[in-house]
Amino acid sequence: MRSWIYASSLVLATVVQAITWTATPFNPASIPLAVRTPYLSAWLPQGTGAALNQAWPTFWTGSTLGWAGFVKVDGTNYAFLGIPAVSGTTFSQAVQRSSVFTSTQSIFVLSAGPVNITVTFLSPVEPTDLVKQSIPFSYLSVSAAATDGKSHTVQVYSDISAEWVSGDNSLTVNWNSTTSESVLTHQVQLSSPSVFTENSDHTQYGSAFYSTTNTVGATYQTGSDVSVRAQFLNNGKLANTLDTGFRAISNNWPVFGLAHDLGTITTATAPVVFSVGHIRDPAIQYIVAGGALQSRSLYFLSSFSTPAAVISSFLGDYSAALSRANTFDAKVQTDASKISADYASIVALSIRQAFSATELTISKTSTGAFNTTDVILFMKEISSDGNVNTVDVIFPAWPIFLYTNPALGKYLLEGLFRYQASGQYPNKWSVHDLGSSYPKALGHNDGLDEKMPVEESGNMIIMALSYAQKTGDLAHLQRYTALLDQWTQFLIEDSLLPGDQISTDDFAGSLANQTNLAIKGIVGIGAMAQIESLLGNTAKSTNYSSIATSYVTQWQKFATSTTGAHLTLSYGSAASWGLSYNLYADKLLKLNLFPAAVYSEQTAWYASHANAFGVPLDTRHTYTKSDWQVWTAAIVSTTAVRDLLIGGVKKFVSDGQTNVPFSDLYDTISGADVGFRARPVVGGHLALLAL
Ligand SMILES: *[C@@H]1O[C@H](CO)[C@@H](O)[C@H](O)[C@H]1NC(C)=O
Ligand SMILES: *[C@@H]1O[C@H](CO)[C@@H](O)[C@H](O)[C@H]1NC(C)=O
Ligand SMILES: *[C@@H]1O[C@H](CO)[C@@H](O)[C@H](O)[C@H]1NC(C)=O
Ligand SMILES: *[C@@H]1O[C@H](CO)[C@@H](O)[C@H](O)[C@H]1NC(C)=O
Ligand SMILES: *[C@@H]1O[C@H](CO)[C@@H](O)[C@H](O)[C@H]1NC(C)=O
Repeated sequence: MRSWIYASSLVLATVVQAITWTATPFNPASIPLAVRTPYLSAWLPQGTGAALNQAWPTFWTGSTLGWAGFVKVDGTNYAFLGIPAVSGTTFSQAVQRSSVFTSTQSIFVLSAGPVNITVTFLSPVEPTDLVKQSIPFSYLSVSAAATDGKSHTVQVYSDISAEWVSGDNSLTVNWNSTTSESVLTHQVQLSSPSVFTENSDHTQYGSAFYSTTNTVGATYQTGSDVSVRAQFLNNGKLANTLDTGFRAISNNWPVFGLAHDLGTITTATAPVVFSVGHIRDPAIQYIVAGGALQSRSLYFLSSFSTPAAVISSFLGDYSAALSRANTFDAKVQTDASKISADYASIVALSIRQAFSATELTISKTSTGAFNTTDVILFMKEISSDGNVNTVDVIFPAWPIFLYTNPALGKYLLEGLFRYQASGQYPNKWSVHDLGSSYPKALGHNDGLDEKMPVEESGNMIIMALSYAQKTGDLAHLQRYTALLDQWTQFLIEDSLLPGDQISTDDFAGSLANQTNLAIKGIVGIGAMAQIESLLGNTAKSTNYSSIATSYVTQWQKFATSTTGAHLTLSYGSAASWGLSYNLYADKLLKLNLFPAAVYSEQTAWYASHANAFGVPLDTRHTYTKSDWQVWTAAIVSTTAVRDLLIGGVKKFVSDGQTNVPFSDLYDTISGADVGFRARPVVGGHLALLAL
């Protein structure tokens, strides 16, 4: 991650409404709507009480994504999504009755006169199906049910704006639609795209798609926001006309509308389903041997040759996708509820966010065919930086991959291993990331990447062993033994007395002799002992094992405070302390290098040093990290302290002081968000499920 944080975070200045609906499990700062990739990331900035029709959906950065919805019931109009203004028409606000989020869905019930409408946003999480996981689409479904037992006529409308294709609304877009097939699709893109480029974190090439099944009574229209929405509000259907006056995103705001006539309804209808997505190809530029740049494509393109084919399959799969999602949600809920209800709610809110930072890619063979045996998973370091596959961002997120499908972890590490094995990276420690700006994984052949030598070397060895332990697959340990051993030599030099350097918590500043960083390095050496053992290299294994053991003994003397029963933040600084979350790796890998007394002493210390929103990261600041608190919760010796740490995170993300996607950095005294948002490190909230 990078060494600065936002100067000030968004604090809601306006007076917020009291929540008048039932929120299950709670009202989070921001609710995921369509959250699947770094570029398909639409949220409801909920704060302390914005209903689905009291705010525009926003991109994770906070910029607006036009996404509107109306229903007409017995001729009366109600808005249910977004805050469109349409002069010359009348409509009321549907009244939100409930909101629910699960790991994959956000479900809202709103009453529109005598009808309840259920609006479901499903962002599939398909960890074991690489084709489905890589399809950059989400579902919006709407169903209606009378609340008075009588019959009512219902029409449903929704549109997106062109804000889904750029970070700059002054840019010109063009669009076209398919209207004669079994699926109605609108497609929109920049007129002058720029491959592998971003603008304000939005991608600047590829196309957005808004689609629905072309059933009887389905209508479509493109045109200015006011004209298309007014057409529906006045007529209950669209005009089936297409605007061809291509123009800037904000010039009479072109929108891409779709409508369905549900006819006369009483009991709950089958839902009408819309899909929203964004496809770009190639997706990633990746440095390979000799500095050549490889263009990589999203995995799903190996199964679908056109956008129309994938959209048709995606829409047709809705019922099955919903059923798989319900199964996945139920499993996560069951597993996480064994810890606590607070924990289950934090995990559910984290899953779409963590997966949406990642994209599964494949390369092509020399004949141009897709090579599905060459899989690399890319991750964007969202919000703190735009780096590609940052090792110390993959590391905190690691538990989500171990829990859902460890192979995804292998695919995340593969890009890093392969680049460093190509010999182009000059340093003896592990690289920090694969490239400064997503989606360009251009490496750091100058060796001038953000320097976190002990952090990243330890992380790589720990994650490599962890994957092998979970799966029994030793192929990458065999292929990359030389690199792993090179990093181990560095850890042997620099982890008992780590030189002045930053850790993953770079924003907190650099320090020599960091206690927690030393733990990382020592666990890394201990992990390499296990790797050598798995590879049959007994002598090396014994040697590294004894080095790790002897380091632990020496470390305990350096790292224990002389004035209190706790570990220090750095050696010799008796009053300092911090969250020693790197001990989690010792438990995860079952090395048990560090004595139980260290855990129980730290547990007691956290219990007596918690603020209202949890335990500070360390004595330099009052802020903390949600991921490291949950990692710590996974290894403390009492359930009381475990629940205290988890409770602090829950209290923060439900306190209504911010409206951004789950921030992992916040103040433990005030509960204010300190600046990060939407980062994949929330995958670390699954730490208790991965043990
Ligand atoms: C309408 O929605 C409310 C709130 O979710 C619910 O309590 C009620 O049972 C619903 N009515 C019908 C008929 O579905
Ligand atoms: C838009 O036009 C392009 C180029 O002709 C075509 O490939 C694409 O399928 C069209 N999109 C839709 C949604 O019809
Ligand atoms: C496909 O990728 C794998 C893994 O990188 C590689 O070993 C293999 O040679 C590739 N196949 C072709 C036909 O290029
Ligand atoms: C690190 O700790 C060791 C052992 O206490 C000490 O000798 C050394 O001076 C420290 N290094 C720095 C830079 O403070
Ligand atoms: C153990 O490993 C260290 C670091 O690689 C090396 O210097 C030392 O010679 C090794 N000892 C034995 C007995 O192999």
